[in-house]
Amino acid sequence: MSIHKEVKKIKKVTTHQLQAMKDRKEKIAMLTAYDFSMTKILDAAGIDILLVGDSASNVMAGHETTLPITLDQMIYHASSVVRAVDRALVVVDLPFGSYQGNSLKALNSAIRIMKESGAHSVKLEGGKEVSDSIERILKAGVPVMGHLGLTPQSIYKFGTYTVRAKEEAEAARLKDDAKLLEDLGCFALVLEKIPAKLAKEVAESVRIPVIGIGAGPDVDGQVLVVHDMLGITYEFKPRFLRQYLNLYEEIKGAVSQYITDVKEQDFPNEKEQY
Ligand code: KIV
Repeated sequence: MSIHKEVKKIKKVTTHQLQAMKDRKEKIAMLTAYDFSMTKILDAAGIDILLVGDSASNVMAGHETTLPITLDQMIYHASSVVRAVDRALVVVDLPFGSYQGNSLKALNSAIRIMKESGAHSVKLEGGKEVSDSIERILKAGVPVMGHLGLTPQSIYKFGTYTVRAKEEAEAARLKDDAKLLEDLGCFALVLEKIPAKLAKEVAESVRIPVIGIGAGPDVDGQVLVVHDMLGITYEFKPRFLRQYLNLYEEIKGAVSQYITDVKEQDFPNEKEQY
């Protein structure tokens, strides 16, 4: 039986099954999701993890960064995703301002997400500087996924979206942070846009699954923003992205045809009326 069929046999993906996948050297497939209808398709295809990413701020709301999205908006997206899911594990991003610098606020934000959306876990960006928040959330029994490397909520600190941890000092900090997140009890970790060699080292040095985006092949799984891999986002083609469809062009073509059909009174025809 192929690995794909084996993985699809799982009825509901849990954090324990993700750990078992890493232990068995099965790669983990993760995508973002923000709404009910798309989630139905992704879940039926057998995706392992669905991330209700704060990238919703970009691809759903049209903001330039992930900073403006609110906790209420994340809960709205997460509830829509949870209603559609049968199999995948749902992870929800804690948005900017909902967990930094105040672990009680972080706990309350995570509890709101879990209670009001029915999601299975939360993700937050950062290492040592947010360890109090991570610890407090974990103590309440909420599974936490970490996120290191390029952390888009800190874009104004970084100044650009280029590859992180190319320098020795930043790479060493990232490795320490990865170990810390594992020791705190995070169930998995996202590494975004870092050198493939460093990502491999991290994935080999921690027991928990490491999911990469722009972090090369030698990690335990991959994540992409669904709008990017389906080619809905226009002209966003970073090197790490594999675009599986060009839905921007496909949808534009279909809508142009519909407009023509309406204007030329081809639609609706006799069979398309009562
Ligand atoms: O918000 C998001 O989509 C993410 C992924 C890029 C990992 O955090």
